[in-house]
Amino acid sequence: MRYLVNKNQGNFYSMIGIDFGSQSIKAVAIKGKKGSFQIEQCSEVPTPKGAIMDYQIQNQEAVTKAVGTLLKQMGAKTKYVATSVSGSNVISKIIPVENTIDTDEALQDFISRESESIVPFANSEEVSLDYEIVGPNLEDPSKNDVLISATKTQNIRDRDIILSECGCDVKVIDLSVHAMGRAATALVPELANTESKVCAVVDIGAVTMTFGIMVNGEIVYSRLQSFGGDNYTQSIAHFYNVPYEEAEKMKVQERLPTDAKHDVEPQHFSMLCNQIKRNLQLYSSASNNTKVDLVVLTGGGSLVPNLADYLSNQIKKEVRHPNLLDLAPNLKTDVFKHGAKYMTALGLALRSFEPCQI
Ligand SMILES: Nc1ncnc2c1ncn2[C@@H]1O[C@H](COP(=O)(O)OP(=O)(O)OP(=O)(O)O)[C@@H](O)[C@H]1O
Ligand SMILES: [Mg+2]
Repeated sequence: MRYLVNKNQGNFYSMIGIDFGSQSIKAVAIKGKKGSFQIEQCSEVPTPKGAIMDYQIQNQEAVTKAVGTLLKQMGAKTKYVATSVSGSNVISKIIPVENTIDTDEALQDFISRESESIVPFANSEEVSLDYEIVGPNLEDPSKNDVLISATKTQNIRDRDIILSECGCDVKVIDLSVHAMGRAATALVPELANTESKVCAVVDIGAVTMTFGIMVNGEIVYSRLQSFGGDNYTQSIAHFYNVPYEEAEKMKVQERLPTDAKHDVEPQHFSMLCNQIKRNLQLYSSASNNTKVDLVVLTGGGSLVPNLADYLSNQIKKEVRHPNLLDLAPNLKTDVFKHGAKYMTALGLALRSFEPCQI
């Protein structure tokens, strides 16, 4: 995969991965080398209320302050950063392109000619694009599948300004779903090794569920939905008639009354499962009935007890829920209990092991 911004020109930089979420901004630093690395440090700060919505920065000043606090907490040893964009202003899709168009120049030409039909944003001058030839198109051998990634340039600019103001040097701006996929591959190694495995990576955030499909270690399909852990908190608040903040604590500290097992919890599990099933169906119909072999769950919303087992029983597939603590033997365990919510930040930090191809 190529990147929307990649200043890692053939060099390796040790980079902190920073993930801008709606509930918290997270950072991960790693040490070691590809295939044998450890999490050196990880930390999060709450996102100021309303400051990031749909992964877009709404309040630059507040987010800059929060990132400053995050970096202080991290005791960061490097100023180099890899971060990502996501949300409705980001697209990532595969299009078939004549295989005679195979040089960088020809592809750039093609994409700028076709960009209006490829990129559904209003003002196409303000769009940052990237592309990669994935391989031959299975239905038409005269075509290649080309993966296009694009976002509104403002999305990139906002992150760059915030991080620069905090003294960072932004080397990479990736797509969040690709970072998730990279982290999943690091924690579930057979994803990279088994050619035929098709894997769904499902990130359940506070307000967004990101569904990505990985084939041969590469994200080839992705879809976002407005659904996440916040929906569960709202149901708890409503059901037990408690303020939202109290409901959030009850959920995270696992202090739900035992009757929750019979009402509010099954309702949430069932809604979540239906969303995942629907995404699996949509992918299946968009890909000539390709079957998904394995599901990898990530994101803070995946930290609800027994969710992985429940989903596995319902969708009749293996569901993995990788634990980042496995990669952090030196970190005090009270830094995080499991770490699923740091997966995207980890995937970004893992860019430290990849030189630039541009
Ligand atoms: N231990 C836990 N048990 C249950 N839910 C949890 C736990 N820890 C976090 N969550 C939930 O996870 C959600 C936050 O997840 P995450 O940090 O991945 O979101 P985000 O990246 O900030 O949001 P988004 O990606 O949607 O913008 C919240 O709804 C929170 O309540
Ligand atoms: Mg998130």
